[in-house]
Amino acid sequence: MASKGDNVIVPGTKLEKFLCMKGGRGESSYASNSQAQALHARSMLHLLEETLDGVKLNSPEIPFVVVDLGCSSGTNTINIIEVIVKHISKRYEAVGYEPPEFLAFFSDLPSNDFNTLFQLFPNYGGSMEECLAADSHRSYFVAGVPGSFYRRLFPSRSVDVFHSAFCLHWLSQVPEGVMDRRSTAFNRGRVFIHGAGEATAGAYKKQFQADLAGFLRARATEMKRGGSMFLVCLGRTSVDPSDQGGAGILFGTHFQDAWDDLVQEGLISDEKRDAFNIPVYAPSLQEFKEVVEANGSFTIDRLQVVKGGSPLVVSHPDDPAEVGRAMANSCKSVAGVLVDAHIGDRLSQELFLRVERRAESRANELLEQLEFFHIVASLSLA
Ligand SMILES: C[S@@+](CC[C@H](N)C(=O)[O-])C[C@H]1O[C@@H](n2cnc3c(N)ncnc32)[C@H](O)[C@@H]1O
Repeated sequence: MASKGDNVIVPGTKLEKFLCMKGGRGESSYASNSQAQALHARSMLHLLEETLDGVKLNSPEIPFVVVDLGCSSGTNTINIIEVIVKHISKRYEAVGYEPPEFLAFFSDLPSNDFNTLFQLFPNYGGSMEECLAADSHRSYFVAGVPGSFYRRLFPSRSVDVFHSAFCLHWLSQVPEGVMDRRSTAFNRGRVFIHGAGEATAGAYKKQFQADLAGFLRARATEMKRGGSMFLVCLGRTSVDPSDQGGAGILFGTHFQDAWDDLVQEGLISDEKRDAFNIPVYAPSLQEFKEVVEANGSFTIDRLQVVKGGSPLVVSHPDDPAEVGRAMANSCKSVAGVLVDAHIGDRLSQELFLRVERRAESRANELLEQLEFFHIVASLSLA
C-alpha cells in the first residue's frame, strides 16, 4: 500500500493495488453517495430481468452461482443480488421445481471495504442470536472475492450469471504516455481525458480496448454454457473520445479547475498535477461493440445506450450550497482515494473544498448539464 502523498499514479502503475471507492459509511463514502447509481440501476431492472429470462436453468440440485463484479461497499450490490436470486427462484417455481441453493460472490479489488459491505447485509446487522436464527432461512450463501475483473477470478465454467454495474469505465491503469512529458500522449495541464488532444485520447481508448478484451477473455472461460452476463458502464454519445459527456463534466470541469487552483496558489507544482490522471474512459457504443466482436466468444443479446440521469441526488436543487456539497462528495466518493494517495489527505481536503465552492457558484448550470449515459450490454456465450 502506498503511503499518503507518494506519487503513486506513475505511468504503468497498476491501480488495482490501491483503487477503491471511499469506504466506511461517512458523508463522503461510496455507501452514502451511491443513491444515483441505485436509481439508475432501478430504471434498468427490466433489462436485467430480460437477461435473466435467457439464462439456462440447470437441475435444481446444482447450486446456482451469481457474481457481482465491482460490488464496492454499499447496499446497491446486495439489492441487485436479491433481485437476481428472486427472479431465478420464480423461474424455477414456474416450471414446477423448488429453487436451487444460490451462491453469490461479491467481487472487487482487494482494497475495497468488504467489512462495511458485509456489515450491511440485512441478516448480519443484528445480535448474534438473530444472525444464527437467520441462518435457517437465508436465501443465498455469500462470499467475497478480491481481485481484478480484468483477469481470471473463478474456475472454468462455474458461473451462471455475471453482473457488473458502473465499473467497466475504470481502466486498469493510467494509459501509457499520458503522464510522460516526452510522449506525444502527454496530457499537459489536464487530469482527465476530457478536452485532451488526439494522442492522449487515443492512448485512453487503447487502454479501454485492452482492458475490456481482458475482461471478456476471463469471463468467456468462467461462464457456464447457457449462462449470461449483464453489464452497465458509463458511455458517451459523442464519437470523439475527448468529449466524455457526463464523466467529462464530473472530472473535466470543476475538479480540473480545482487542481489548477492548487497550482496557482502554489500548493502543488504543475508537475505534480500533471502526474495525476483519472483512469476512467466512457466508451461509445461502437467502441464497446468492436471489442466484443473482436473477442468473438459472446453473442450480443442486447447492446444499447441508456440515458441515466444525474449522478447528483439533492433534496433542494435550488440550494447552491447543497449542490456544491453533492458534487464534491460525489467526486470524492469515487476519486478521493486516488487523490489522497497522490497529494496526501490535507491537500486532498483543500482540493475538494475548491471543487465544492466552484460547483456551488455554478449550481444551476451544473444541474442542467450533468447527465450520465450508460452502455448496457447483455451477453451470452456464442
Ligand atoms: C462506482 S463503483 C460501482 C459499485 C456498485 N456496482 C454499484 O452499483 O453501486 C465501481 C467499482 O468498481 C471497482 N473496480 C474498478 N476497477 C476494478 C477492477 N479492475 N476489478 C474489480 N473491481 C474494480 C471499484 O473498486 C468500485 O468499487
